[in-house]
Amino acid sequence: MARTRLVAGNWKMHGSRESNRALLDRLLQEIPGMKGVECAVCVPFPYLGQVAERLAGTAIAWGAQNVSEHAQGAYTGEVSAAMLAEFGCRYVIVGHSERRQLYGESDAQVAAKFAAAQGAGLVPILCVGETLAERDAGCTEQVVDRQLQQVLNLKGKDSVSKAVVAYEPVWAIGTGKTATSDQAQEVHAHLRETLTALVGREAAEQVRIQYGGSVNAETAPRLFAEPELDGALVGGASLEAASFFRIVAAAAAAV
Ligand code: PGA
Repeated sequence: MARTRLVAGNWKMHGSRESNRALLDRLLQEIPGMKGVECAVCVPFPYLGQVAERLAGTAIAWGAQNVSEHAQGAYTGEVSAAMLAEFGCRYVIVGHSERRQLYGESDAQVAAKFAAAQGAGLVPILCVGETLAERDAGCTEQVVDRQLQQVLNLKGKDSVSKAVVAYEPVWAIGTGKTATSDQAQEVHAHLRETLTALVGREAAEQVRIQYGGSVNAETAPRLFAEPELDGALVGGASLEAASFFRIVAAAAAAV
């Protein structure tokens, strides 16, 4: 089954109304012409109104980088999935390694956030990935399987086929050290096998598995040459229009 590649920008905690406007204008000049690929930007919460207004009705979708696992209530500083849906978000990143590492999010909490996102009709982009120590210890497959399994335990089989998985080796994020295409393909193929064992071939084949970790315009073409790479989650290089649309173009060209 052919899966449409998804290239999503993760702006992290970057941007300003002024710089966002310039970036979105540039993206809108280039990206709508690219066929056979989907594109999204995941922006800081305060800018959701701005991107919703600018991107409504265009070929670029938008989303957030985090969501509360709770529906509503006394959770100071949190943002619910229903609120994101009100701003037209299609996607929300859950379980990014920066959230897991810097804010102590557990697998169980990530699974609850995944469930909350789907409950509001959003598509979660579930990040999984090993640290360098885990890779060196030969535990990569165990780690990503555990991260995936937690979500399935809570949400069941049907949930995963409607989600996006992002394989993001922690050692490759923001380091300039992209995984080689062989390394990425190996873990992606493993994730596909795990998904097949857990939810069956048909559902597993529908899941888009993105790669993330120092993807840039130079590394994207060789990554997208791998059959199991269904797109990319792009941090640093998504903040610069030219590099982001070259990545989107590479994903489109590889179809
Ligand atoms: P990077 O970030 O492309 O800057 O490595 C990727 C991510 O954190 O999603």
